[in-house]
Amino acid sequence: MTDKIDHTSQDEAPVFPSAEFAASASLNAEQYQAMYDRSMQDPEGFWGDMAQELHWFSPWSRVLDWQEPHAQWFVGARTNIAYNALDRNVNAGLGNKRAIVWEGEDGEVRTYTYSELLEQVKRAANALLNLGVVKGDRVTLYLPMIPEAAIAMLACARIGAIHSVVFGGFSVSALADRIGNAQSKVLITADASYRRGALVPLKGNADEAAALAPVLEKMLVVCRADCNAPMVAGRDVYWHDALERASSEHEAEPLDSEHPLFVLYTSGSTGKPKGVVHSTGGYMVGTYLTTKTVFDLKDDDLFWCTADVGWVTGHSYIVYGPLLNGASVLMYEGAPNHPDWGRFWDMVQRHKVSVLYTAPTAIRGFMRAGDAFPNRYDLSSLRLLGSVGEPINPEAWRWYERVIGGGRCPVVDTWWQTETGSILLTTLPGAFPAKPGTAGLPMFGVDPAIVTREGDEVEDGQGGLLVIRKPWPSMLRTVYGDDARYAKTYWGEIAGVYFAGDGARKDSDGYITVMGRVDDVLNVSGHRLGTMEIESALVGHASVSEAAVVGRPDELKGEAVVAFVLLKDGHTVDAAELRRHVSKQIGALARPDAIYVADALPKTRSGKIMRRFLRQVAAGQEISGDTSTLEDPSVLERLAATEAQ
Ligand code: WTA
Repeated sequence: MTDKIDHTSQDEAPVFPSAEFAASASLNAEQYQAMYDRSMQDPEGFWGDMAQELHWFSPWSRVLDWQEPHAQWFVGARTNIAYNALDRNVNAGLGNKRAIVWEGEDGEVRTYTYSELLEQVKRAANALLNLGVVKGDRVTLYLPMIPEAAIAMLACARIGAIHSVVFGGFSVSALADRIGNAQSKVLITADASYRRGALVPLKGNADEAAALAPVLEKMLVVCRADCNAPMVAGRDVYWHDALERASSEHEAEPLDSEHPLFVLYTSGSTGKPKGVVHSTGGYMVGTYLTTKTVFDLKDDDLFWCTADVGWVTGHSYIVYGPLLNGASVLMYEGAPNHPDWGRFWDMVQRHKVSVLYTAPTAIRGFMRAGDAFPNRYDLSSLRLLGSVGEPINPEAWRWYERVIGGGRCPVVDTWWQTETGSILLTTLPGAFPAKPGTAGLPMFGVDPAIVTREGDEVEDGQGGLLVIRKPWPSMLRTVYGDDARYAKTYWGEIAGVYFAGDGARKDSDGYITVMGRVDDVLNVSGHRLGTMEIESALVGHASVSEAAVVGRPDELKGEAVVAFVLLKDGHTVDAAELRRHVSKQIGALARPDAIYVADALPKTRSGKIMRRFLRQVAAGQEISGDTSTLEDPSVLERLAATEAQ
C-alpha cells in the first residue's frame, strides 16, 4: 500500500463544452441523469433495453444472474460479437462505409469497407477452421498494428475461438508463458513489423517461443515485410495462402452470451501476469454503449484510438466498440515520432480524424517536442479528444485541449482497466464540464465508492480506495485457469465490492479523481507492469541474488522502473547487461531506468522489504518516516549514498 491514498489536492476549475458542441451532443445532462438513475434503480431493465440495440440469435431468460463473485449477463441468450460488428452493419446498409483505414509506418494506406472486412473475416474464420481450430480453443495473436490483427480477432470471435493477443513488444519468454498458460495450439504472427523504420523480427521471436511452448501446433504467418521468414514445414502456413484457399462463405456461430470472447494477460501485484477473461454478450453491450456515448459518435466521424491492439484499449476502442457502432476507425502501425513528432498531426490532417483517443504519456511527449509540430498542420477536423491509461496531469490536459483541440474540442478523461472491459468513469462530452486531471462521473450502471481498507466510505475530498459496488456487463468473468485468484484479487480484498487497486477521491460534485495504483503494480507510459515480475526477471540473472523494484515519478512516462539489486558473492555485472536481461525476459517496456547495486535492502526484523524507503531513495528524496522497525537502519544511509546506474 503506497501513500497514494492520502493525497488531497485542489480541485481544478471546470471546463465547459462549447455551446456548439453541446447543441449537437447526443446526450445532455438531464438525459444522462435519467439513464444513470434508471441503471441504478432497475439495472436489469436498463441493460435489457441497451442490449436490444444489438442482434441476439435467441433471447435471454434473465438479464443478470449475480452470485458474487460470479455474474452472468443475458443468461441463456445467443449472440456473436463479430456478427454484430460486421454482418449487422452490412445488413443495415453500411457495406460501402469505411470500417478500417490503416496507415503503415512507411506511409502505405489500406482501406477496408464493412463488406470487405466481413469477407476477410469470413475467410479467416474458415482458415482457422481448416487448421482444426474449434469453438473454445485458444488462439494466440502476436502481431503488429496491421488490419490482420483486427481480422484475426474478429475471425476467432466468429467461430467462438478465444483470442489471446500478446503485445508485439513482449519478449520470447513472455510470449511463451502466455501461449503455455492459455494452452494455445495456434499462433498468428507476422514475418516482421516496422518500428521507427527498423524491422522487428516477430517471426523469429515466435519460432523461439514455439520451442519453449510445445503445446503449439500451427502458426499462421502474415506477410508484413519481405515475406522471407523461414517457414517450418507442416507447422507454418502463410496467412494469405490460407485465406485464399478458404471459402468466403461463413455463418457466424451463435454463442452463449457467457462464452469467453478473449483472454488478455495483465500484470498484478503477485505472481505471473494473469489472463483476464471476458465474455461475449456483456463485453459487447459494454463496449458498444460506452463507445457510442463517451465518444458521441456521428455517422461521418473518423475515430482514431492510438493504442496497440495488444492492450485492452485496442481491443475495446479500436476493434469492438467502434465496429459495433458502425464507425470508421483509423489504425496506425508505427511510432508517434516517426519520422518526427508531427506524424500524428500529419495523419489527423490527411485523414480528417474527428475523434482522437490517446494516452497522457504520448501527450506529454508531444508537449515536450513543442507546439511547432502540431501548429504546422490543419487540425480543424478534430471535434473531440480522449485520454486513457493513467492519470493525466492538468498541465498536459490543458495543452491537449488548447494546442491540439484548438480550444474547441471537449477532452474526455476515461478511467477503466483491462478487467473492467469498458470505460467506467468519465464525463460525457457536451453534457458535463470536465475538470482537468479528474476522470469524472460514473458511466451507466457503474456504482463507485471511495472506501477505507475496511470498506467504510470516506468523506468527499478524502483519499481512499476505489471500489465498484455493483456488477456491470463488461466486467471480467475470471482469471484464466485460476478462479480462486479472481475471487481473491477482485472481490475478496474488501467484502462485497470489486476492488480496482487504485487510490482515488471524490469531490462534492461526485467527480472522481483516480490517483494511481495502491498495489505493487507500476504504470509506465500507460503500460501495467508488476514489480514482482521485474524482480523475478532480475533474480533470474546468474549474478543477482536479490532484487526489489519500485516506481519513481517520471515527467514523461508517469512512472519509471527503478531496481535495487544485490549481487552474489564474487560476482560483478554492469547495468547495461541487467537491462538487456530484463528486456529479454519481459520486453523493452520493463527495462529499469535506474539500477542501484546495493549491499543490503531495508528490511524489517521479520524480513519484509520496506519499499516506502526504496521509493524515497529512488526519487532522490530525504528518507522520512519511522525507521525503527528496520533491522538495520544504516542500510538506508548507504543506499542514499549509492549512485544509480
Ligand atoms: C490506470 C487501461 C487515472 C489505473 C485502460 C488503472 C488511469 C490502470 C486512467 C489500468 C485514468 C487507466 N486516470 N488512471 N483515466 N485510465 N488508469 O489495465 O491505475 O492497462 O488501474 O487498462 O491504469 O490499466 P490497464
